[in-house]
Amino acid sequence: MDRDSIINDPAYGNKAEAFEAFDDIPTNPNLGNTIGDVINRRYGRREVMRGILGVSATTALFGTSAMIAPKQASAMSAADSRFKFDELAWGNDEDMHIADGYNADILLRWGDPITADAPEFDPYNQTAEAQLKQFGYNNDYVGFAPLNAEGTRGLLCVNHEYTNEEVMFPGLGRQDRSGFEGMTKELVDIEMAAHGGTVVEIERGVDGDWSVNRRSAYNRRITPLNTEMTFSGPAAGHDRLKTVDDPDGMMVIGTINNCAGGMTPWGTYLMAEENFHGYFWSDTVDAEGRPDVSGQAEAASMKRYGVPGRWYAWGKYYDRFNIDKDPNQVNKFGWIVEVDPANPNATPVKHTALGRFRHEGAETTMASDGRLVIYSGDDNRFDYQYKYVSKGVVTDNRAANSQLLSDGTLYVARFNEDGTIDWLPLVHGEGPLTAENGFNDQGDVMIDTRLAADLLGATPMDRPEDAQPRGDGTAYIMLTNNSRRTPEQVDAANPRAESNFGHIIEIKEEGGNHSATKGTWSILVKCGDPTIAEVGAQWNPETSESGWFGSPDNCAIDTSGRLWISTDQGGGWGRTGKSDGLYSLETEGDLRGHSKLFFRCPVGGELCGPYFTDDSQTLFLAVQHPGTDGIKDLAGFERESTFEDPATRWPDFAAGIPPRPSVVVVTKKGGGQIAV
Ligand code: FEO
Ligand code: CA
Ligand code: CA
Repeated sequence: MDRDSIINDPAYGNKAEAFEAFDDIPTNPNLGNTIGDVINRRYGRREVMRGILGVSATTALFGTSAMIAPKQASAMSAADSRFKFDELAWGNDEDMHIADGYNADILLRWGDPITADAPEFDPYNQTAEAQLKQFGYNNDYVGFAPLNAEGTRGLLCVNHEYTNEEVMFPGLGRQDRSGFEGMTKELVDIEMAAHGGTVVEIERGVDGDWSVNRRSAYNRRITPLNTEMTFSGPAAGHDRLKTVDDPDGMMVIGTINNCAGGMTPWGTYLMAEENFHGYFWSDTVDAEGRPDVSGQAEAASMKRYGVPGRWYAWGKYYDRFNIDKDPNQVNKFGWIVEVDPANPNATPVKHTALGRFRHEGAETTMASDGRLVIYSGDDNRFDYQYKYVSKGVVTDNRAANSQLLSDGTLYVARFNEDGTIDWLPLVHGEGPLTAENGFNDQGDVMIDTRLAADLLGATPMDRPEDAQPRGDGTAYIMLTNNSRRTPEQVDAANPRAESNFGHIIEIKEEGGNHSATKGTWSILVKCGDPTIAEVGAQWNPETSESGWFGSPDNCAIDTSGRLWISTDQGGGWGRTGKSDGLYSLETEGDLRGHSKLFFRCPVGGELCGPYFTDDSQTLFLAVQHPGTDGIKDLAGFERESTFEDPATRWPDFAAGIPPRPSVVVVTKKGGGQIAV
């Protein structure tokens, strides 16, 4: 099917669904704590930090994601689950739902003012200027950097992945079908201002409720409209990064399609650039309406990355998003961006040593010797799972720690049939990564990470979404789905053809050490309805009708070392009939593979985050694009959502106000750790 046929096909209920189908071409400052305290608590690496830092390190820094080894479970039935909560019943309606005994409160909505001088949200009179001072659209990754020892005050770091024009702007409707005729420069600027990220100070009051401090000097928006960034690592200053506005190849304006991310041990915020290809424009098309890059110097690279995707009209107004005018701009996106939330004036850095691909996320951990390790998936059908290992070790010097993201080795995974895994290094001059194959230097290897990984024989996966390491040398890989895998392409690590529901792989690195280049892998669960034999699902038999899910996307480890999964079924949730949500998933003992539903989204929304605070008493969730995905399958609605007629008006439920992507705060009624 050609591009226009897919866009105009009523089967695809919104732009994201249509473009996913079209693009579906397999292209093969914790100021009260020491850094030692933080790493001990969050990573369970006390012995490492004694060796590196001694016991008296006192440098101020922030916290990061939780990782300690889990206790062994020996439970036999669902009633003995280590996750202590009464399971929520599955369903699908206009509101969010949380398990009994818990609060789910709205903290931040699209358009909420985040600075003292920001205007109140008014979707009928929105401007880019206002949006730059307001919370952005489609919140995805959520991280938290504590500002006090108690963790009751800190900086929330939130990614804004993309925008849905049909429910953002009155009277507009879907624009991809009309060639973006309705998209004026003013609307494009609002879209750009609604992308990127937000850093905002929040505080937990004595009543236990979290609130936003609009007057905080830390509050900041990061956008592709006006935030200047720089580069580090092998591709910084590379000829292929030199553009019309930047003859040095060292500067770029903004970041796009920031999906998941991570927090570093020293409290900086990592934003992953995922579907960057979708933002580039070209007027050069072939007979089928597909962009024709054959005349481009970077044609092979552009084809492998799916550039230009033409999901947005930005290239009509900005040459930097138009490959006919400034083609090297595409090489400035697809990276991991580091932001220091403790310094609102700091220039964000794109770290090229972590490779260029459709980075889903960037979750961090530490090797046994204190080196930094980051897991990151390339979310495309038949693309790869990566991990980065720094050359140096984490120390109590925050400025020096950021250099760890500039100098290290990127590896790609080969999942062998015998249950072992090999991590293959992407190093110029080694194996096939030579000038004869088009790689003149390490900068080329990083810019064309996908092409390099192809030559190394990495394993093509079923869309690697989030990857979550745990401090004991374990990592969990979310493979969300892959409807295009044929029976002939099935392998041990991707065991189902036409996989509509995805699966989760558990990796055990050799010696429990995240820097190991070998390890073992196993399938934790195969998702989907276990009562339908053809689905081929695999769950712990104690899993209930409400507990199974499809399309794992994001994940988190709580302070007890337990795994939580959030889902994104895209346009496919009619296959399960369930809304997206958050599930606990047991990884140990007799209940391994047992899943329970904890939270579910309003209709049409996917669930992102999740992020547990250090004390596991607060859980941040991000409900993205409420009212849009899959709603054509919703009994009684059965049409596409628009600004005027959305499937839900969550969370305001006010006449004339469209649905608003929002961050939700979950706490236990009466206080205490979640699910304990
Ligand atoms: Fe933005 Fe792969 O989810
Ligand atoms: Ca995702
Ligand atoms: Ca997603």
